[in-house]
Amino acid sequence: MAGILDTFWFGTVILGILVLYCLGSCSTGVCEIGWSGPNCQKENVALNKSASQSSYFFFYYPSEYAVDGNTSHLRYIGNGSGQSKCIFTNTGVDFAWWTVDLREEYPIRDVKIYYRENYMSHLRGFSLLIGKDDDPSNQNECFHHTNETLSSEYTVHCQDTGRFINITNSRENPPYPEDYYYRAVLELCEVEVYVCANGTFGKDCSGLCYCKNQERCNVDTGLCSNGCLPNWTGNSCSTLCVDGPYGVGCSKHCSKRNCKYSNSSCNPADGLCQGGCASGWSGIDCSQVLTFKPNSLISTYLSVNLHTLPMVPNKHKWLPPILMGSRGGSVS
Ligand SMILES: *[C@@H]1O[C@H](CO)[C@@H](O)[C@H](O)[C@H]1NC(C)=O
Ligand SMILES: *[C@@H]1O[C@H](CO)[C@@H](O)[C@H](O)[C@H]1NC(C)=O
Ligand SMILES: *[C@@H]1O[C@H](CO)[C@@H](O)[C@H](O)[C@H]1NC(C)=O
Ligand SMILES: *[C@@H]1O[C@H](CO)[C@@H](O)[C@H](O)[C@H]1NC(C)=O
Ligand SMILES: *[C@@H]1O[C@H](CO)[C@@H](O)[C@H](O)[C@H]1NC(C)=O
Ligand SMILES: *[C@@H]1O[C@H](CO)[C@@H](O)[C@H](O)[C@H]1NC(C)=O
Ligand SMILES: *[C@@H]1O[C@H](CO)[C@@H](O)[C@H](O)[C@H]1NC(C)=O
Ligand SMILES: *[C@@H]1O[C@H](CO)[C@@H](O)[C@H](O)[C@H]1NC(C)=O
Repeated sequence: MAGILDTFWFGTVILGILVLYCLGSCSTGVCEIGWSGPNCQKENVALNKSASQSSYFFFYYPSEYAVDGNTSHLRYIGNGSGQSKCIFTNTGVDFAWWTVDLREEYPIRDVKIYYRENYMSHLRGFSLLIGKDDDPSNQNECFHHTNETLSSEYTVHCQDTGRFINITNSRENPPYPEDYYYRAVLELCEVEVYVCANGTFGKDCSGLCYCKNQERCNVDTGLCSNGCLPNWTGNSCSTLCVDGPYGVGCSKHCSKRNCKYSNSSCNPADGLCQGGCASGWSGIDCSQVLTFKPNSLISTYLSVNLHTLPMVPNKHKWLPPILMGSRGGSVS
């Protein structure tokens, strides 16, 4: 019983971020809707937001089809049961745009475009603007395509802070290269706008930063511009307790872990045992007595209970990322 209670406590308190964005156990790699990345810390903030566009094709599709979570690249445009969950601007014009309003400003990391398959010539030359409002003169072009190879799933690394993501294309100033379609048209099947959860940065938001006052760090480098939380150091404030111990307040000792391999390094943040735990132990730092097997039992228990917890409404409350150190640390 103590085992379950311990695990449960561990689950609700220490796995705070897991509760927020992973479904069940993060070690299964399944995230809540809209979240992705190895720790489920990468959020698609465009999902289900309101969108608009410059014009519509004959068969009307709402602009929100590009943020409906359906990434299908169906080529078919017609009206009917097989209709595509993509947006189409009118084909007979020289300028087109599509915009999503994220409702608040976000520090954006990158934008992934799912385009109509086999129609990349239509996308060539596009621009991606990010702005604080829907006044185009306040929108910065953070990417302009020229001759790079495009694919129907194309990620633009566009680091800027803004609320409006505006994808535009123009054929107003010919001549254009041969591989450009001669008219401006947008056929977007999905646009995902990725933001790293507070306390995370880098590719897939898998880097952790422990900034002072729980401020966001630079999405690329992890730099905390105003310094670190107490006991954290380094540019991205991700180095804790340089003298050997690990964990919050440097209160745990590397030598007291129960790692499977005695040569395991000791991560100063969470004491991670490389290669797993010695028999009878569990947790990311192998300091918990293993009481229950199999893992799925515990995961189910956790997910059932966590979804009924009062903390769920606080789902956007920031928790220090050390608290997610126990990813995969459920009893296994
Ligand atoms: C987005 O909207 C769809 C359809 O209304 C809904 O099923 C889904 O849960 C919503 N997703 C989010 C993250 O709000
Ligand atoms: C497409 O189908 C919908 C529903 O069947 C209908 O209301 C609409 O008029 C159709 N649009 C066109 C352009 O045929
Ligand atoms: C996405 O949309 C297509 C076209 O309407 C549909 O066939 C498919 O089932 C949808 N996928 C999901 C996951 O809803
Ligand atoms: C998107 O950008 C284009 C080009 O600057 C502009 O004409 C259009 O108004 C913008 N759309 C929105 C909603 O901001
Ligand atoms: C794109 O254009 C630049 C400048 O003209 C050229 O250096 C580069 O090789 C081209 N890249 C591709 C993929 O064609
Ligand atoms: C993330 O941090 C920023 C300030 O850096 C704050 O405004 C925002 O509310 C925080 N977001 C969450 C979800 O905690
Ligand atoms: C920082 O570390 C010291 C010494 O290890 C410890 O006494 C103190 O409680 C820690 N502070 C915080 C905020 O964790
Ligand atoms: C640690 O020991 C194990 C088992 O002896 C070995 O397989 C592994 O390569 C070692 N790791 C390091 C970093 O030395």
